[in-house]
Amino acid sequence: MEELKNIIRDIPDFPKKGIVFKDITTLLADGRSFHRMVDLIAHRYLGQKIDQVVGVEARGFILGSALAYKLGTGVTLVRKPGKLPYKTRRKTYELEYGTDTLEIHEDAFKPGARVIIADDLLATGGTMAAVLDLVEDLGAEVVECAFMAELEFLEGRKRLPEGKVYSLLQF
Ligand code: PRP
Ligand code: HPA
Repeated sequence: MEELKNIIRDIPDFPKKGIVFKDITTLLADGRSFHRMVDLIAHRYLGQKIDQVVGVEARGFILGSALAYKLGTGVTLVRKPGKLPYKTRRKTYELEYGTDTLEIHEDAFKPGARVIIADDLLATGGTMAAVLDLVEDLGAEVVECAFMAELEFLEGRKRLPEGKVYSLLQF
């Protein structure tokens, strides 16, 4: 796991002064690391009944689609505003550095669908709290929120339901 952690690099003062940004593009770009990261996360859910994976724009699409492929499910997109073509539900939320809005198609799930929500990184938890609301409001059951990495010092986990958060790498 240390090998995977070490390949993620720190970018000081991005996107704003005072923020040390964890750059996961280096992990994604390395074939062996990417493969291992996806396999380790997917392994957790293989054998469970999972109906759908939700990916959060933009970096969450990468883990989300890889997980969906591994688990043999479809992938549902949660997107920034104005990108989804059909009728949507939307939610505005606080980010570590500003505010943002996310949308999902209102017919995204069959009633009671068991879903995994995938994103690259858990920081303050604002994004995932918003996505959880969107997904649960549409009648799906969230099995777990899965992240490649978690910034533990921001305590995002506290904003999310206990026992429903999994991260592969902790900083
Ligand atoms: C980043 C990251 C998570 C979120 C984590 O997304 O990919 O979705 O922030 O922060 P939080 O836990 O404090 O909410 P960003 O909005 O930068 O979008 P991107 O994936 O499109 O770059
Ligand atoms: N790295 C990547 N994504 C992020 C971060 C970070 O440090 N903080 C919020 N989103």
